[in-house]
Amino acid sequence: MSKVLFSLRRLCVLRNGFDTGTGTYNVNNTSHDGDKIVAIDGPAGAGKSTVSRRVAAMLGFAFLDTGAMYRAATWRALKHGVALDDAEAVTASTRAMRLELAERNAGLRVYADGEDVTDAIRSPEVTRNIFRLDQVPGVRRRLVELQREFGCRRPTVAEGRDIGTVVFPNARCKIYLDASLECRARRRALEMEERGVPVDFPALIEEIRERDEKTMNRADSPLRRAADAVLVDTTDMNLEQVVDTLTSLARERL
Ligand code: DC
Repeated sequence: MSKVLFSLRRLCVLRNGFDTGTGTYNVNNTSHDGDKIVAIDGPAGAGKSTVSRRVAAMLGFAFLDTGAMYRAATWRALKHGVALDDAEAVTASTRAMRLELAERNAGLRVYADGEDVTDAIRSPEVTRNIFRLDQVPGVRRRLVELQREFGCRRPTVAEGRDIGTVVFPNARCKIYLDASLECRARRRALEMEERGVPVDFPALIEEIRERDEKTMNRADSPLRRAADAVLVDTTDMNLEQVVDTLTSLARERL
């Protein structure tokens, strides 16, 4: 069991290509050599979290769910009544957040300002509002800093939307996980049913389609397959097959 407390140290942040002059990351100028990073990107519902956690366990690596971080930032802003269309305010809220990710046998637990928000960050209200924060450059910059700190400390399997393109552009193993829209919606519906959440399937398909569109078309860090990422289409694969494929790819490349 390990617990990683963000915001303690700034070991790697200042070496990671952040240009304070322009306020942007130079993705070609990060000091991270990517030796021990598996970067997994892809659209909503492609199975990234489940697969990445399993691959991390197979490799003995840490698991970093970056979507949980955007969710926690959104949860916090909603909790404090921050105006979600105020970029400065949501950036300040994200910077003020104490974020902890704890790996437990039963899965990852997420704490924001000391409160266990593991379930709360999956609420429909948070999911509906994330896109208002995840396109704010200041929010992304802060979370990318934390993600790089995490990856600097331990060999890591990181999953999200911009891991291979922005967060760890030098990762030696990059994977883009995809699946048909219908298949992704079916998987998401199953997950929701397991948590006892009622599912309206046509509405779910529409919601995922909309999220894809927003994530792929935003100005800052849109979801893209990195040129050197291996595309794995999981539409006709089961979980074991996906985990085996990714673990083999990681072992070949690292
Ligand atoms: O993977 P997820 O559904 O938990 O991600 C939640 C949202 O966070 C998703 O709508 C897109 C955003 N996100 C992002 O912009 N960049 C990441 N690296 C991870 C997630």
